[in-house]
Amino acid sequence: MLILLYMKKEKKILLSGIKPTGILHIGNYFGALQQWVKMQDEYESYVFIANYHAMTTMQDAEKLHNQTLEIALDYLAIGLDPDKVNFFLQSDVPEVMELAWIFNCITTMPYLMRAHAYKDAIAKNTDVNVGLFDYPILMAADILIQDTDVVPVGADQKQHVEYARDTAEKFNHIFKKEIFTLPQSIILQETAIIPGIDGRKMSKSYNNTIPLFGSDEIIRKAVMSIPTDSKAVDEPKDIKQCTVFALHKLFADEDLPKITEKYKKGGMGYKESKEILIKNMISFIKPMRDKREELAKNSNYILETFRHGGRIARARAIKKMQIIRTHTGIIRTLD
Ligand code: TRP
Repeated sequence: MLILLYMKKEKKILLSGIKPTGILHIGNYFGALQQWVKMQDEYESYVFIANYHAMTTMQDAEKLHNQTLEIALDYLAIGLDPDKVNFFLQSDVPEVMELAWIFNCITTMPYLMRAHAYKDAIAKNTDVNVGLFDYPILMAADILIQDTDVVPVGADQKQHVEYARDTAEKFNHIFKKEIFTLPQSIILQETAIIPGIDGRKMSKSYNNTIPLFGSDEIIRKAVMSIPTDSKAVDEPKDIKQCTVFALHKLFADEDLPKITEKYKKGGMGYKESKEILIKNMISFIKPMRDKREELAKNSNYILETFRHGGRIARARAIKKMQIIRTHTGIIRTLD
């Protein structure tokens, strides 16, 4: 009985984060962030801002600083609760860089060359810096240093979590001990791909996003700009082809069966469909937007919340690094 009670108390570790390189959009929310909110009760949660990862593409001090604060606000505004979640900055845990070095030494270049993000960058003819090339390894260090069990992320991050898992296995094998937990990604299948206003996957790089905290005006403009076919009001419409409908699925709730029926039978034009979507989107976004505005008035609270979480995350990392140093022969004993 006692053992059962003890086991029940032990929560699995959840860790996730995003890099502060742009404002959050609806695709980020439904693809990943929403899960963190849902899972925060059940898991011991660590949610951080990957500011060192951001440096691979953003080298502007003021921008990095400002956008870090913006993401901090976003995390709290979407409903992550500081009483349940440990928030921190990646840079609060410098041990991660140390671990990344160790991982670099057991990782081959051809293996990293298979990363989608690296291949995309090469395909676009961008000059790839070493940081970008090594991105998956730094991410593996973020995940593995905290003994993470689950990593809820958007579909685009799936491969990165596989890198972390492979790296854990490789390390455990080389050093002949189960030092690292094998992490698992959690990806929401039904919403893995959220369409942007041009119908392609919503993504910063396509410039087709709808901001998560957008004003009513921005939301209206974005929805109105979604291209639709030329079917008349009475005609049946294809729910599989229509971007507006794909977005209804995220925001319509109890209206969805009614909207679906009108699409299938005809009787609703795209203009009306868009008006309904705008109304539903605004009523979803407005409370979060209001909360964010309130939070923004108290930046001290935000900073203190992150400082506190940072101390907790770092303490764990320091402990883990001692074990890792010992088992790699960098130091001989645990003290
Ligand atoms: N790569 C993630 C992004 O693009 C950020 C990130 C860095 C991350 N380290 C992580 C996510 C560890 C989950 C777990 O935003």
